[in-house]
Amino acid sequence: MQKPYVIDEMISAKSIAARLEELCREIHDEFQGTDKLVVVGLLRGSFVFIADLVRELDLPIEVDFLEASSYGDGMESSREVRILKDLRGAIEGRDVLVVEDIVDTGHTLHHVTGLLKSREPARLKTIALLDKPSRREVDMKADWTGFEIPDEFVVGYGIDFAQRNRNLPYIGKVRFT
Ligand code: PRP
Ligand code: MN
Ligand code: MG
Repeated sequence: MQKPYVIDEMISAKSIAARLEELCREIHDEFQGTDKLVVVGLLRGSFVFIADLVRELDLPIEVDFLEASSYGDGMESSREVRILKDLRGAIEGRDVLVVEDIVDTGHTLHHVTGLLKSREPARLKTIALLDKPSRREVDMKADWTGFEIPDEFVVGYGIDFAQRNRNLPYIGKVRFT
């Protein structure tokens, strides 16, 4: 049984939208003139963020998805990341933007960017809505970050707690009661 908890709002839907506008201006500056930008969402957590992001981008884009699963080996802190669902399209010679909801230990984004770089895209950039730098285990930082947050258990705007609460329109903090 899940321990009872409440969710306190941490970042409002309005603040997210305002920050997203700022970030999209910078993304436009970076990719202005691209013939096509492949926007890659990392499932499942990024599905809300990528939906809002692409609707704010006035660039020729293609949307693709990749699903990775990270897990500890149960003994050491070494982490292994498996690809559960790969991209549909080729990215060689393409401009690519990887979209992640949150960077925590950094293993997921580190592994995925390593994999995608080996496919020789023209440009590979990353954006994460949230960053928890205090939890980092590998040297990894997204090119654009929405908000740096402390080490709190967050949910909403795509992010789950045991697969729940992804549909909240804001970022909330889990508090056990
Ligand atoms: C969460 C989150 C990031 C990743 C960050 O995904 O959405 O993808 O963990 O953690 P890391 O920096 O320590 O690798 P999760 O594996 O829970 O899958 P989900 O996106 O389907 O919820
Ligand atoms: Mn995820
Ligand atoms: Mg999750």
